[in-house]
Amino acid sequence: MKEYKNIKVGYIPDCEIEYNKKKYLIHDVIDGEDILVDTDKNYPVLNKVLKPSKYRINDGCIYQHSCGACQFMHVSYEHELELKKEYINDLFKPFHLKKIININPMPSPYNYRNKSIMTYKMSKSKKVVCGLYQEYSHNIVTVDNCMLQKEESNNIIKNINQILTKNKIMPYDERTRSGIIRHIYIRYGFNSNEIMLVFVTNGEMFPGRNNVIKDIIKANLGITTIIQNYNSRDTSIVLGDKEKVLYGPGFIYEKVGDYKFKISPKSFFQVNTIGMKILYDLALSKSGITKNDIVIDAYCGVGTISIFAAKYAKQVIGVELNKDAIKDANINAKINNINNIQFIADDSTNFMTHLAKNRTKIDVVIMDPPREGSTKQFINAIGYLKPKRVVYVSCDPKTLKRDLYTFINNGYDIDSIECVDMFPKTTHVEVVALLYLKDIK
Ligand SMILES: C[S@@+](CC[C@H](N)C(=O)[O-])C[C@H]1O[C@@H](n2cnc3c(N)ncnc32)[C@H](O)[C@@H]1O
Repeated sequence: MKEYKNIKVGYIPDCEIEYNKKKYLIHDVIDGEDILVDTDKNYPVLNKVLKPSKYRINDGCIYQHSCGACQFMHVSYEHELELKKEYINDLFKPFHLKKIININPMPSPYNYRNKSIMTYKMSKSKKVVCGLYQEYSHNIVTVDNCMLQKEESNNIIKNINQILTKNKIMPYDERTRSGIIRHIYIRYGFNSNEIMLVFVTNGEMFPGRNNVIKDIIKANLGITTIIQNYNSRDTSIVLGDKEKVLYGPGFIYEKVGDYKFKISPKSFFQVNTIGMKILYDLALSKSGITKNDIVIDAYCGVGTISIFAAKYAKQVIGVELNKDAIKDANINAKINNINNIQFIADDSTNFMTHLAKNRTKIDVVIMDPPREGSTKQFINAIGYLKPKRVVYVSCDPKTLKRDLYTFINNGYDIDSIECVDMFPKTTHVEVVALLYLKDIK
């Protein structure tokens, strides 16, 4: 055992210690704490906090040290928000923004996830159990009660595990590539109360499937549709290409604000339903769209931002790579009686380059790319099309920062940046940046 006093911790709540001339990371600590580290293990680990920070809390997550998904579980929510704010303001300092970047909090940092994905294994006592991959590894930590998931999803998972054990359904074994069940994936409609359950199986074979479905329906868990997704590939990507509807319509509806959305298993949908409304309201308030504007919603998913934007605009064009999401987006426009939207299945960069070649007139771009951010060609095409405003919604502040430099090189300036804490208890945060074309602010 070794004591470390007044430890230094950055944004990620880890501290680096030196032991036997080697450096190690100790997780789940807070700046300024005194800690006792167990150095008898292969890798030194936190044994005890000798002088806890005033920001340390114990909110009862028993998986925190083993699972590693929630880096801020031991930090009070107020302090987590302060740390996020400090980190973001530091990151964007080189842009010399006029205003401090603020962060919109969630009403509660717990039970906000509408999406749960768990991976299966056989327990030592021969029970079918599931959990989350341990950080940087393929070890599955059994998790019965995740504090970020909706309580109902935790309850469904417990019941499904009993049903799978009773029906002797073998979990998939990554080493031998044998067994049936790989993952369970749940989508919970916070506002609609509709629940989608997807079994990801190792191929089409699912012996005992009918009995499993009968038992699930009998258990009355509120599940409105069950889907089997086939994934026999040697991959850590959860969903395979093919699927079969086993019960119900094969999708759920969810209501956000005044709108209703159809969600299929493979379509992207924000994981935090409460945060999603706050995020879209913020993005639209920044966009300043008027009734004469033609708006592009790039990386549009199932068309959620397009649909929120439609009532303010003359026309909205949504573009998205995933064809299933575009099918849902078209249905979503229809069920919400919106006629001024067109959805296009294409790569956003291809599409924007095509618009630039045709010198199409556009007024506002809203873009919400995946973590890797956008491309130089996409942003160069915007530089050519010269929309007066661009609202960039990002789930990775670092790729946003990289892309902002390309916007600046294309004649844009940053008006403001604001955050929404879409992922409390984790180090992730959603950022919204408003850019304007310099000559015409
Ligand atoms: C962060 S999600 C945003 C979706 C939507 N705006 C929302 O809020 O639900 C990013 C979306 O970009 C899509 N996507 C990824 N790469 C793309 C590309 N090269 N071109 C178009 N869409 C892409 C993904 O399928 C996903 O739906």
